[in-house]
Amino acid sequence: MADRLAEDGRSPDDASRLTALLQLTPVVPVVVIDDASRAVPVARALVAGGLPIMEITLRTSTAIEAIGGVAADVPEAHVGAGTVLSNEQAAKAVSAGARFIVSPGLDEDVVSVAGELSVPVMPGVTTPSEVQRAWNLGLRALKYFPASLAGGIPMLKALGAVFRDVRFIPTGGISAANLCEYLEVPSVIACGGSWLTPPDAIAGGDYAVITRLATEAVAIAGRAMGQPTTTANQAGG
Ligand code: 3PG
Repeated sequence: MADRLAEDGRSPDDASRLTALLQLTPVVPVVVIDDASRAVPVARALVAGGLPIMEITLRTSTAIEAIGGVAADVPEAHVGAGTVLSNEQAAKAVSAGARFIVSPGLDEDVVSVAGELSVPVMPGVTTPSEVQRAWNLGLRALKYFPASLAGGIPMLKALGAVFRDVRFIPTGGISAANLCEYLEVPSVIACGGSWLTPPDAIAGGDYAVITRLATEAVAIAGRAMGQPTTTANQAGG
């Protein structure tokens, strides 16, 4: 796994905070919230499991409210917005309290508005051309999505060999079963995924499941980083 995240040159403070967080806990839960009242307990459950970061996807009508709730009530959970498709969505998410922006694809307008708002942005890429476009926009941390379908670990290694200063956050098809393998790729700074917050657990209010999955992921990340499990848990918690 990469030692550090190259900053995007746009928002050094936020980028540095994100870097520090991902160094401690290189796992980004991707969360879909249908009922805004669930967002705060989900955030607390993740923090309790050692993951003080979450990406709330703008796939539901409640997502902006959910981001606002977490930003206000769980400040220790570094909340960002995912599935950001437009500059309007990016602006709304940041206004609600999102501290980073993630997009499924590369969109210059979204990158631009994130820069204006001084929040780190991680657009999704899968090809060398997209990585090169992002690189020329000044970005050095990119979501690799959908990771398992786009080429997985062999593709990440190939991209990493060419784009030496780019760090990837593979997302899509990642779970506890392959997290360690992905985190061991040198160009990978962190992995994202929805497996940490199963829809049934959120809907049923079974937050202990989320804490257990987060704890398991932190332990796996600790192994990938060559740390004893207890150290990883304490650092993350
Ligand atoms: C994303 O939003 O990044 C992906 O949908 C997450 O993919 P996963 O559900 O396979 O983790």
